[in-house]
Amino acid sequence: MSLAPGVGRSPAGKGAPAESAVGVVSAFGASFAGPVWLAAGTCGFGEPVVAVMSPSEVGALVTKSVTVEPRRGNPAPRVAEFPEGMLNSVGLANPGLEAVRREKLPWMARALGGLPVWVSVAGRSAAEYAAVVRGLDAEDGFLGYELNLSCPNDEHASGRPFSLDGAAMGEILDEVRPLTSRPLLAKLAPNDPDIGATAATAAARGADGITAVNTMPGLLLRTDGGARLGAGPGGTSGPALLPTGLAAVRAVAAATRVPVAGSGGVLSPEDARAYLAAGATFVQVGTGSFADPRCAARIARALAYDALERARGRPASASRRVGRGQVGELEPVDGRTAPRDERTVPREMTVP
Ligand SMILES: Cc1cc2nc3c(=O)[nH]c(=O)nc-3n(C[C@H](O)[C@H](O)[C@H](O)COP(=O)(O)O)c2cc1C
Repeated sequence: MSLAPGVGRSPAGKGAPAESAVGVVSAFGASFAGPVWLAAGTCGFGEPVVAVMSPSEVGALVTKSVTVEPRRGNPAPRVAEFPEGMLNSVGLANPGLEAVRREKLPWMARALGGLPVWVSVAGRSAAEYAAVVRGLDAEDGFLGYELNLSCPNDEHASGRPFSLDGAAMGEILDEVRPLTSRPLLAKLAPNDPDIGATAATAAARGADGITAVNTMPGLLLRTDGGARLGAGPGGTSGPALLPTGLAAVRAVAAATRVPVAGSGGVLSPEDARAYLAAGATFVQVGTGSFADPRCAARIARALAYDALERARGRPASASRRVGRGQVGELEPVDGRTAPRDERTVPREMTVP
């Protein structure tokens, strides 16, 4: 499980482009072996990843959302399919801060070969987000945090997701930002009438990047009127979310200067390319991994090939901006980034 040289945390510090090779994306003071990440809650803490791929086949992993206390989650069934996607109500089931600190982070540091890891953080209040960050920040084994701002704000009667309440979202960032020098991503809810403005607020309050979007609230019913999920309503993901995610990314990219990670309905290289065209620097694959556990690796491979194609005919030292990271175009990294079995691979770009 070797990683490309320079992949992982960059000593150069936040924002500084790292020495890069073909397809390596530098952002947040780190370098990523490509723009494709595994989305929160769809790859646990990396356990299913090592079973089906080398972690170096993707750019990063976002963990399940971690809360202060262990959570067993919602009653079954937690997932229901429909033709264009999936509805889930997992209820943030996770082992809790202490077990993540004691077991999950050391395991990820050992097993994931230096793959950049974002710890997703969730809570019922700003104080709970801060408690998770305070509890994990001294540990090794991860790059930064993705703040899941789409979970309900239990301190307020409405229970509205934090990112749909500017004051509550600002409170979380104000609490968390001083606690860590690691990069912070703000993951936003899709049902936001002005997601660009929300992203701009998050960036102004200290978010280093934006993930857009989380699942869309939804409900699936049987013909007798009963809910198909044990908890009743849930969050829609998969292809049905793609147009919402693309519109959100375009709005966020127009309203901010920070890197954007697109999430929602990425199941193919075309979907990922559309997100990059909309202004994303990274794309996250979630539901796609349930359809095909190697979905993200397959998309990453296609995008790596795109990078090789872009590199053709360019000066050797050229580096092109894609989204808000630097994509190096110097030379192939290793066999992982080049689709060796593709007949169309230009000979000079084929790597051993
Ligand atoms: C089963 C399941 C569990 C999820 N758990 C989390 C989670 O713990 N934290 C989070 O921020 N997002 C979670 N998500 C949302 C995904 O990370 C992703 O943003 C969303 O599903 C849209 O992407 P997709 O269409 O590629 O799945 C979950 C999604 C699914 C389907």
